[in-house]
Amino acid sequence: MPRVVVVGTGGTIAGSAPTAAQTTGYQAGALSVSQLLDAVPALGTVARIAGEQLASIDSKDMSLALWLQLSKRLDSLLASDEIDGAVITHGTDTLEETAYFLHLTLKSAKPVVLTAAMRPATALSADGPMNLLNAVSVAAAPVSHGRGVLVAFANRIHSARDVTKTSTFSIDAFDSPEAGPLGWVHDGRVEYGRRVEHRHTVATPFRLARSAAAPVTDAVLHDALEPLPMIGLVTSYAGASRVPVDAFVAAGAAGIIVAGTGSGSLHHDLQLALAEAVERGVIVVRASRVGSGHILRNGSAADDRLGFISAGTLSPYKARVLLMLALAAGMREFDVLQAAFDTF
Ligand code: SIN
Repeated sequence: MPRVVVVGTGGTIAGSAPTAAQTTGYQAGALSVSQLLDAVPALGTVARIAGEQLASIDSKDMSLALWLQLSKRLDSLLASDEIDGAVITHGTDTLEETAYFLHLTLKSAKPVVLTAAMRPATALSADGPMNLLNAVSVAAAPVSHGRGVLVAFANRIHSARDVTKTSTFSIDAFDSPEAGPLGWVHDGRVEYGRRVEHRHTVATPFRLARSAAAPVTDAVLHDALEPLPMIGLVTSYAGASRVPVDAFVAAGAAGIIVAGTGSGSLHHDLQLALAEAVERGVIVVRASRVGSGHILRNGSAADDRLGFISAGTLSPYKARVLLMLALAAGMREFDVLQAAFDTF
């Protein structure tokens, strides 16, 4: 039988409310990973399970320190011959950011699957137990190898690169806009319909922990990745203000992601502030607030003239993750950074 480790970090999947009818105002992360595992005896028919509690938080409070801890712990668990795959139980609110961070930093081809729930564990028709069973089925399936970090939610399997939360209350709360899911998990059957084309996990230079297999060139990155640099996030809108850009520059941000309107267009006051930030050595990446689609280089702003990088198909939140890692890894040249956004 495959051996799967389930790492608990909290979230609604481990949430507890005073009544079964309550799906808001509950305490996220109240139950332990062992309680979640005990609630699903069918897990024992899919894999040999070990549980590990790494945190018990509401994922709105996810920190960079916890990301580093999670990534290193998973790399060490997955390096063992005793583990075939891992599942992470997480809150839905920042799940897509954690998933992409791991997608870029883990150094294993073994399946790593994040799952979550929209209803607390105490609710009528809680969705967590089935999501957990499905996530373990995905992690235990040999066909899941080499696909990067995955998200199993509401019977669909998404790539960490493309997935995003799209509903505040529906139990079908995740989607991969434009790309679509990678596959499906249904009554234990795991099936894939496509592969991830962007590079991930073992094929990125972002390495947090040394391993015997690490190429010598990657080992250099180990110390450079901590602490991760400050990256600001600002939005363009009618009557946009330059104040947040100036505040991030004054605070010493190494980069700023701007979620532009439409295909990444920027209010002229904001664009001017960002162009000035570039002149002061801050890296600026242009993404979109729309939620799906592609930011074409020079499509809505004069990227080459102003020194802006294009996020391509990455959301502003994931663009922030990539820029943080790229700068920490010593990537500074404009062309190298743009290539990173085109590649990962
Ligand atoms: C959280 O993100 O931890 C709370 C919300 C949720 O899991 O749905």
